[in-house]
Amino acid sequence: MSGIPVIIDCDPGHDDVFALWLAAGHPGVELQAVTTVGGNVPLRHTARNARIALTVAGIQDVPVAAGADRPLVRELQTAEWIHGENGLGGPSLPEPTVPLDPRTATELMVDVLQASSDPVTIIATGPITNVAILLRDRPEQARRIREIVWMGGSTERGNVTPYAEFNAWVDPEALRLVLDSGVPFTMVGLNVTHTALVTAAVRERLAAIGTATAGFGDELLEFFCRTNDEVFGLPDGPLHDPVAVAAVADPSLVTRRRTRIDVELTGTETAGATSTDLDGVLGREPNAWAAMTLDVERFWSAMGDAIGRLR
Ligand code: BDR
Ligand code: CA
Repeated sequence: MSGIPVIIDCDPGHDDVFALWLAAGHPGVELQAVTTVGGNVPLRHTARNARIALTVAGIQDVPVAAGADRPLVRELQTAEWIHGENGLGGPSLPEPTVPLDPRTATELMVDVLQASSDPVTIIATGPITNVAILLRDRPEQARRIREIVWMGGSTERGNVTPYAEFNAWVDPEALRLVLDSGVPFTMVGLNVTHTALVTAAVRERLAAIGTATAGFGDELLEFFCRTNDEVFGLPDGPLHDPVAVAAVADPSLVTRRRTRIDVELTGTETAGATSTDLDGVLGREPNAWAAMTLDVERFWSAMGDAIGRLR
């Protein structure tokens, strides 16, 4: 039996690369396309970095298309302080052999959705601009989407302001549109991704795989853990984005709660905060799932197994 068809919409970014590799190597999902968005670094870098991630891992048959270079209404804010100037600080980057698909992200997503006999899951690991544009411009495609699973937000505190997580903060208007769309939605927020810590033991375990992909990944993790230590005092950097893939590839790895999620657009101090009404005190209709816990040990096993299946 083949896995759930997925599109990954991403802004690589160190942890986005591991999300791509987990999706490419895990039998629970079938990676059909990659779309990129301006986020951690500008679009010209994220589009190239996605192609590099696939090139390194020997994945030649998955199309990569570029999407939005800025949020729906705001100026783009980037995160070079975590990911470096080119978005993949650390290793020397090879010239990608995976081409950039001439279609826009929306065009590629629509083509994949229409060609698939089963509904497709969209896993978004950056600002959710491209998904919002798809739902805004091609709403008839919504019924072909099985679920949107997004790394972003938090049921608790933020990482770029006290209450806003980076992906939510960059494009909260896009998040609002997606939450309002009625498409099944799961938020994989910092409350759970901060348990996916790249400890020394995790690094050793992944490096021991001994492949080209694992070696490149180890150089990424070295840089990522250093910047997370410098910026957040977290030497075991949280590898956020692959947790969203794990939630799709093996749903037994996460627990979720049905809840109401709203995003703050206008707060003077809290723009981008995801207000997650776990206790239902607002009395509003639930509109999402929030990932709550991760089976950390099995998550890293799945990651190691997936990387081991790549080049
Ligand atoms: C999110 O922001 C980015 O820096 C990471 O790639 C991840 O998607 C974590 O807040
Ligand atoms: Ca990301």
